[in-house]
Amino acid sequence: MANLAVNIGGLKMKNPVTVGSGTFAYGQEYDRYFDISKLGAVTTKSLSLEPRAGNKPPRLVETPAGMLNAIGLQNVGIEAYLRDKAPFLREKGCTIIGNIYGKSPEDYAELAKRLDEAGAADAIEANLSCPNVHDARTARGCTLVAQVPELVQEYTRAIKAATKLPVFVKLTPNIIDIAEPALAAEEAGADGVALINTLLGIGINPETRKPILSNIVGGLSGPAIRPVAVKMVWDCAKVLKIPIIGMGGIGNASDAMQFILAGATGVAVGSCSFRQPDAAIKVVEGLNDYCERHNVENLTQLIGKLE
Ligand SMILES: Cc1cc2nc3c(=O)[nH]c(=O)nc-3n(C[C@H](O)[C@H](O)[C@H](O)COP(=O)(O)O)c2cc1C
Repeated sequence: MANLAVNIGGLKMKNPVTVGSGTFAYGQEYDRYFDISKLGAVTTKSLSLEPRAGNKPPRLVETPAGMLNAIGLQNVGIEAYLRDKAPFLREKGCTIIGNIYGKSPEDYAELAKRLDEAGAADAIEANLSCPNVHDARTARGCTLVAQVPELVQEYTRAIKAATKLPVFVKLTPNIIDIAEPALAAEEAGADGVALINTLLGIGINPETRKPILSNIVGGLSGPAIRPVAVKMVWDCAKVLKIPIIGMGGIGNASDAMQFILAGATGVAVGSCSFRQPDAAIKVVEGLNDYCERHNVENLTQLIGKLE
């Protein structure tokens, strides 16, 4: 067996593989398909202070090699997560990345503090980049927090002050240069960045002449976005000192290796789990096979080793 262990900004994982927030709920359903504690970490759906119903349907549509979604951050809320979901993950022995979403730096700080105090996460991932919720938009119109480096700093500082857990900032690809908010997060004390969230898109039904999603605009994910995501990881890896969790269309170990070679320390399997529920654990197994085939003792030797 190769050594697949990684340390992502203080978060120790037995392998680099986690799941994309929002594509794995809180883990329980997937545990029927494989032992989820074998993943490097389980990343939760974005948690908010209050439960959220999300957007009206239709809010998901397939696209060539991917999907458009506008779920709108439906989630059980922090209280129900702590009471009903975290105990299952803890009993299983999972490493937990608690993904959080709020409407202000104070909300994020409060969420991080509650996860930390309850021992219900081992790291925090701050979703500053959800394109499908209108209350996430700032005074500048329809701007996301992750599109404005000064806001990224303000939010990151607030979260860092509220917890001792490693803090990862999740960034948007809907921006000219993703390295700017990434550097802003690093400067404000983030322990890592996670990228990419979904790319904005619209699907239209020509027969009805109406948008397919009730929200009109949705986020594109899946294999279609993989080359964009790999490029953005590469852009960030060139300038950052903190580690990167890469995601965007990862469905197998070969996909994951693209991100690792481009500079990612961790990788997340998102939409591909919908089509193949055990995709994430297959990536773990495939990374081990890759290392054995290439005589690599420690997978970390290959981070950023694009030739
Ligand atoms: C249905 C769906 C729901 C998502 N919900 C969240 C979420 O709650 N929080 C978040 O940070 N990202 C969310 N994402 C984004 C994913 O975590 C991931 O960043 C993105 O989908 C790219 O990875 P993929 O192509 O492997 O799916 C969601 C994506 C999908 C498809």
